[in-house]
Amino acid sequence: MVQPIPAKGTRYFALLIDESNQPDWYDITLNSVFNKGGAAELWTVDTDNANFTILAKLWNDEVLAGIAAHPPEAGRLIPLIRHRDELYAKLRFVVWPRRILFTRPELDNSVADIRGFTMSKLSGYRKLFAVLDAAQEGETPLKLHEAAYLAEALCGNVQRLHAHPWQFRFGDLTPNNILVDAQLTDLYFVDADSFQFTYNDPFTGAAQQIAINGLTPGYTSPEAIAANKRRQRGAFLPPLSEDHDNFILAILIYQILMSHFGLGGTHPFQGSNEDLLDTYIENRQFAPELPDPPINDYIVAQYKRIPENIRSAFRHTFIDQKPLKPAEWKRLISDSWRSLPPG
Ligand SMILES: Nc1ncnc2c1ncn2[C@@H]1O[C@H](COP(=O)(O)OP(=O)(O)O)[C@@H](O)[C@H]1O
Ligand SMILES: [Mg+2]
Repeated sequence: MVQPIPAKGTRYFALLIDESNQPDWYDITLNSVFNKGGAAELWTVDTDNANFTILAKLWNDEVLAGIAAHPPEAGRLIPLIRHRDELYAKLRFVVWPRRILFTRPELDNSVADIRGFTMSKLSGYRKLFAVLDAAQEGETPLKLHEAAYLAEALCGNVQRLHAHPWQFRFGDLTPNNILVDAQLTDLYFVDADSFQFTYNDPFTGAAQQIAINGLTPGYTSPEAIAANKRRQRGAFLPPLSEDHDNFILAILIYQILMSHFGLGGTHPFQGSNEDLLDTYIENRQFAPELPDPPINDYIVAQYKRIPENIRSAFRHTFIDQKPLKPAEWKRLISDSWRSLPPG
């Protein structure tokens, strides 16, 4: 298969099919690389037809090979695009795909021609990862109320994502897929093309299950690690439960709260060896509460400044296999964290 390499000036054709079933096309031209993730390159584009700034997310060869091997995989974009306005109305904090990108403006043999999708471009946002990182350097520790707000907003988003009738699971819920504005008051989720969800095919009525597409080391759950071990080569992950996201949510809450103490990037399962993060997650070795793996005394001392009922929630989630739900975290943070004495 000849694959045109994305380069400045490459033209693609952006398709919208909504519930009217009338295909609507316009063309875009790649302008410059905006960002790069594990699965794709993001490009700014020139077009006459969009009302706002859009980005093209062009999947890399590995993702395209996966689609070629499992054509229904490309189908994950169809319901998202068909219902994009409704999804935006209900879950406006997700950057949903807007149009499917093809190499030709025709629908025959279409799977081999798919390259990715368009989405709106967020300006003035940075990754949660960058916020945590700055707090780790001790440069800009988060204020008490900033940490509380970020954690509560994150819980609210996960809660609403889970409550949607399509039973969305984020899956790859990492600080790289969460974008935050400069005032730390607005949160967006990106990478919606890797979400897990269930929907009813409009033509056959049959339930379609779309699998999570890719996870990041350190931002996973014992459930996903076990499922990954059982799965056959090349097969997709089986459906994961809400508690998969809830487990990672607790990892992120830990990192956000520790940012108040200048230890933002500190991972709850961090031992001396970064490569063992997933092993520690699998074995539920939540370092600040257990002798093994040994960690820096300073980290433990800062962790102990977190109110006891929040620490107890971390133990329930990480050690006792009883992850808290987003609503439960929200209540805890607003009751206990917000009332911590200053300083
Ligand atoms: N709509 C967007 N607006 C602005 N930045 C974005 C947008 N979508 C993604 N990004 C940035 O680009 C990075 C890579 O995009 P992502 O969709 O997560 O790709 P991948 O699937 O390869 O991880 C993200 O971590 C984020 O920083
Ligand atoms: Mg990503």
